[in-house]
Amino acid sequence: MKTIFSGIQPSGVITLGNYIGAISQFIELQNDYDCYFSIVDQHAITVPQDKLTLRKNIRTLAALYIAAGLDPDKATLFIQSEVPAHAQAAWMLQCIAYIGELERMTQFKDKSTGKEAVSAGLLTYPPLMAADILLYGADLVPVGEDQKQHLELTRDLAERFNNRYNDIFTIPEVRIPKVGARIMSLQEPTKKMSKSDANQRAFITLLDEPKQIEKKIKSAVTDSDGIVKFDRENKPGISNLLSIYSILENKSVEDIELSYEGKGYGDFKADLAEVVINTLSPIQERCKNLLESQELDDILDAGAEKAAAKANKMLKKMENAMGLGRKRR
Ligand code: AQP
Repeated sequence: MKTIFSGIQPSGVITLGNYIGAISQFIELQNDYDCYFSIVDQHAITVPQDKLTLRKNIRTLAALYIAAGLDPDKATLFIQSEVPAHAQAAWMLQCIAYIGELERMTQFKDKSTGKEAVSAGLLTYPPLMAADILLYGADLVPVGEDQKQHLELTRDLAERFNNRYNDIFTIPEVRIPKVGARIMSLQEPTKKMSKSDANQRAFITLLDEPKQIEKKIKSAVTDSDGIVKFDRENKPGISNLLSIYSILENKSVEDIELSYEGKGYGDFKADLAEVVINTLSPIQERCKNLLESQELDDILDAGAEKAAAKANKMLKKMENAMGLGRKRR
């Protein structure tokens, strides 16, 4: 069975973009692969986080993974900081990464531009992500489009390590969904939807109440021609809403366009809000029950143990390849 690794940062409550671009793929793949899915909390602290909120977001994200359909009997779910091998391997990979290639990462540029103080961790985020993936010998990494560049760097670092030290790493392939790989902001539809966007109306979280969802979709930026038609270039707002509708209802964009012929954006937005609410309500209900249960902690304890067993084996190989520590039997 081939192996999959992917992670999500608990840098806020996850959005419809994270759900469509990442979690839905994970659920689809868990039957056919040996899957490791992580709550990558060490990535989240590359930008400032409030400690109580972070703790809450970590547990909520774990519950949402399961509530959305992740089966802990099939896939291993764990918190990154509970498997120390990630930070250890990341250090070794930082030592073979070049500052120039890290500075070229789009996410680093986006998150550091205009900031007075930028953490060193924000720059070295990609080697940590490479460690996450390479420790498990992942063949495939399902992510949204925004993570493609980090995946390319992961492949470069793995090849560099294999050539320089020892051929121990599998070179992972990226898997980007054909639809929904880039759900856009509701307020600036040329920018991707992000859970840490300062404008709360720009994204829908998986825990938003029905009234909030209706409000956010109603105020989503569209255009003035009033025709429900997909045209990414000239009508990015309505095209983004059409994509969300099409993915969640499993209907073609053409069929949706046809059913709104002669109707305005008001009707379309009201129906889309209903579609989103119907998708999220059962997830929210399951999430609430899980958060109150001991079951969630048991799943995370077992996940950390299983992940550590696998990751530690690769960590040893890395240390041996680089000549760290002492040779032991
Ligand atoms: N808008 C999006 N559309 C489709 N997929 C998306 N992903 C993120 N945004 C979208 C995918 O979700 C997974 C988890 O992402 P992450 O939490 O590790 O970091 P991110 O990509 O930086 O996501 P956010 O929501 O934008 O987080 P913040 O605001 O903290 O930076 C990844 O597979 C990602 O591609």
